[in-house]
Amino acid sequence: MSLLHTITTCITLVVLLSSQTVATKDDLKHVNPLIGSTNGGNVFAGASLPYGLAKPVADVDGQNTGGFSTDGSNVTGFSHLHDSGTGGNPSLGNFPLFPQYCPDDVLDNCKFPKSARAVPYAKDSVVARPGYFAISLYNGIRAEMTVARRSALYRFKFPSADTGNGSALHPLISLDLTDLWDSRQNASITIDAHSGRIRGNGTFLPSFGAGSYQTYFCADFAGARVHDSGIWVNDRAGSEPKQLFLTRGFNGFYLQGGGFVSFDRPHDGVVTARVGVSFISTDQACNNAEKEIPDPLHDFGSLRKDAEDAWRAKLSPIKVTAGGAGDDMLSSFWSGVYRTMLSPQDMTGENPLWKSDEPYFDSFYCLWDAFRSQHPFLTIVDPHAQSRMSLQRLDAGGSNADVVLADAYVKNLTGINWELAYKAMVNDAENEPLEWSYEGRGGLQSWKRLHYIPYLDFDYLGFGTNSRSVSRTVEYAYNDYSLAVVAKGLGKTDYTTYISRSGNWKNLFKKDQKSLLENGTDTGFTGFLQPKHLNGTWGYQDPIACSALASWCSLTSNPSETFESSIWEYLFFVPHDMASLIKLLGGPESFVSRLDYFHDSGLADIGNEPVFLTVFEYHYAGRPALSARRAHKYIPSSFNASHSGLPGNDDSGAMGSFMAWCMMGLFPNPGQNVYLIIAPFFEAVEITHPETNQTATIRNVNFDKSYRKVYIQSAKLNGNPYTKNWVGHEFFTRGMTLELTLGEHESDWGTGKEDLPPSVSGSLAKESDV
Ligand SMILES: *[C@@H]1O[C@H](CO)[C@@H](O)[C@H](O)[C@H]1NC(C)=O
Ligand SMILES: *[C@@H]1O[C@H](CO)[C@@H](O)[C@H](O)[C@H]1NC(C)=O
Ligand SMILES: *[C@@H]1O[C@H](CO)[C@@H](O)[C@H](O)[C@H]1NC(C)=O
Ligand SMILES: *[C@@H]1O[C@H](CO)[C@@H](O)[C@H](O)[C@H]1NC(C)=O
Ligand SMILES: *[C@@H]1O[C@H](CO)[C@@H](O)[C@H](O)[C@H]1NC(C)=O
Ligand SMILES: *[C@@H]1O[C@H](CO)[C@@H](O)[C@H](O)[C@H]1NC(C)=O
Ligand SMILES: *[C@@H]1O[C@H](CO)[C@@H](O)[C@H](O)[C@H]1NC(C)=O
Ligand SMILES: *[C@@H]1O[C@H](CO)[C@@H](O)[C@H](O)[C@H]1NC(C)=O
Ligand SMILES: *[C@@H]1O[C@H](CO)[C@@H](O)[C@H](O)[C@H]1NC(C)=O
Repeated sequence: MSLLHTITTCITLVVLLSSQTVATKDDLKHVNPLIGSTNGGNVFAGASLPYGLAKPVADVDGQNTGGFSTDGSNVTGFSHLHDSGTGGNPSLGNFPLFPQYCPDDVLDNCKFPKSARAVPYAKDSVVARPGYFAISLYNGIRAEMTVARRSALYRFKFPSADTGNGSALHPLISLDLTDLWDSRQNASITIDAHSGRIRGNGTFLPSFGAGSYQTYFCADFAGARVHDSGIWVNDRAGSEPKQLFLTRGFNGFYLQGGGFVSFDRPHDGVVTARVGVSFISTDQACNNAEKEIPDPLHDFGSLRKDAEDAWRAKLSPIKVTAGGAGDDMLSSFWSGVYRTMLSPQDMTGENPLWKSDEPYFDSFYCLWDAFRSQHPFLTIVDPHAQSRMSLQRLDAGGSNADVVLADAYVKNLTGINWELAYKAMVNDAENEPLEWSYEGRGGLQSWKRLHYIPYLDFDYLGFGTNSRSVSRTVEYAYNDYSLAVVAKGLGKTDYTTYISRSGNWKNLFKKDQKSLLENGTDTGFTGFLQPKHLNGTWGYQDPIACSALASWCSLTSNPSETFESSIWEYLFFVPHDMASLIKLLGGPESFVSRLDYFHDSGLADIGNEPVFLTVFEYHYAGRPALSARRAHKYIPSSFNASHSGLPGNDDSGAMGSFMAWCMMGLFPNPGQNVYLIIAPFFEAVEITHPETNQTATIRNVNFDKSYRKVYIQSAKLNGNPYTKNWVGHEFFTRGMTLELTLGEHESDWGTGKEDLPPSVSGSLAKESDV
């Protein structure tokens, strides 16, 4: 049985079901794919299906990590594969097409290489909608595109080609054997003179990670008679030969080249291009295109509609009653929800290395980003896709995957063999792989013997970047907590081992450590994590290092004992035992003042994922109102509906999911059956569980669209008074109703000892009573 078939059926079914509601509610209109298209958001602004592999858009020569950007740079072509919101090198963008006329109809007058052909576009011509993208180039050509799962459909409208003296120009479309960052190693192209079909393949380097990958395409043209075809190399082209092989010379020299087809201009000026893509073969690329887009000349409208319907179906579990909240708020919200389902790409049937029968998703670039709120988000709106992704984590390994699996476990995701899953998690926690940069964990001997990851560890079992001892210690502690959760559920005796290892973060807490600002001013807080040597003596890393108040740290740039964030921020990463952390930091009051200082001083980096939970940690100190205040401080000042409305890379939708959770009034603590409650940013939000069909409702009483009344005064769950400041996942699966009465001031709702979310070491109540 083909899994692809099952999925397609499933989508069609949902579309039929939701079509009745479409007439009254069209949330698609609020989605703006251009949010985050400049200022480093790096979002993919083009046409895609939910989790679609094919992602056509105009590529620019400026901030092009996601292909297109509204940064004012020029268009270099139209390519069919992209990622969304990644950082680092631009991703994919293979085999771009470029439409043009050759001046005087002379082939060599056309501009073939990337820098020569780059052309400005009319700023107000850009139309970006779910499943559709259009743009007008200064060369007079308007390009429109829509998409199926593994193929893209373009319509290039060429302006009138009459030269005024009886001769006419020929529309030409070139194809470049390149990608966004010219990583091509070698590539081949073949052009069929009769049909104009161009097929080819290439070997490229991934923008992140090791090795190389091969990709294949198959381009067909329709709507115009083929006039000429051939190849080009650098700035010269010829009708013969009809094939080309390019490789990198011994000195790495990068030769630009590809193919072209020119046409007799049709009356309407439109040349249609259909491009199938594959990671298996050119034959499969052609099959994908033929199957998905059988009639390129007439399918554009129906493909676009199918894409919109697929998106409507994906958004349909959520319903918002705005209550007067502004369009920008709605646009931020729905666009964030949309972006959580652009990636990972559904690569089922397209991975040559994937030996498992399990479904395959790719571009998990950002699991470190995504486990915190994006995967939990998919768990409520698309549990089917989320269990398929969780299954894949079993086969692929990796340490943040432990949290994703524990989250799936506590939320009863179906279709996962938990004995098998647990075995994989234990393997991750017990056996160090040779290359732990790619999978699993490093430093396991020390982890088991010393109960922390030492600064400058002596680790001969495996290889990885031997930095980040502090952040790895707190993350491994939480990963072990994740194992403990599943172990406990399955009745495994290992439970005690892992729950005990989950306390290892404390071993790096240096209680007399102070923290000074760069000008020498004491922040006034004492007690921070610090690196520790193998022999148990302390090392040193300035607690503000790697924050915005000091300098950036990543794996390659300024590698440090914390990854991409400061000791200040990592100290707050004890998601399973906030009660112990609060006690260690001097109790709720002193914890709150530290958390306030963190957010107010510039130490908090709202543009990077480790910060997410800190926005809501006031809940654990009995001050849920302060979490609400923080969320409103960051939305909309850092997350808004403008093209620059993201504070950092979207990271495949991680930022989008953070914003969506905040605005829905719940925030997950991933790996736990816990959602922290604040008032939604809308009058009401309903979420219908796609499997149980139960509808969960969060409704504000006294909703205030100017957001002065954002503090919960009292709450009712299913009609009964409710004082806990959190709910479990049953809220969604059983479709409960939470009614929140709001006021302008902090109240005592959710502040009692018995109202706080759970912690491993027991409630804060017991601890602070001691
Ligand atoms: C875009 O192209 C135009 C015309 O070739 C050129 O003047 C301009 O500098 C380019 N813009 C950028 C950002 O490169
Ligand atoms: C027609 O006009 C084009 C462009 O101005 C010119 O290059 C070409 O030589 C002319 N052709 C004839 C036949 O006059
Ligand atoms: C293409 O490049 C890859 C990676 O550099 C290499 O493994 C492969 O053998 C090359 N193929 C050809 C046909 O040169
Ligand atoms: C790429 O295409 C060329 C030409 O058709 C073919 O010889 C080569 O084997 C293909 N390479 C791969 C990796 O499929
Ligand atoms: C040091 O920097 C902090 C934060 O910018 C500032 O509030 C404080 O006044 C500065 N202190 C001195 C002595 O300059
Ligand atoms: C512990 O190890 C560190 C780093 O190797 C070294 O600088 C320090 O002198 C050692 N201390 C003791 C007491 O052995
Ligand atoms: C929107 O968000 C961006 C990115 O965080 C920020 O720079 C900008 O100031 C925000 N705009 C508004 C109007 O708050
Ligand atoms: C949810 O609704 C769909 C469509 O009405 C139905 O096919 C499915 O069986 C329902 N699921 C449950 C658990 O009721
Ligand atoms: C998961 O299933 C168990 C056993 O049926 C049930 O007790 C629990 O409430 C379920 N959890 C959720 C979040 O639905």
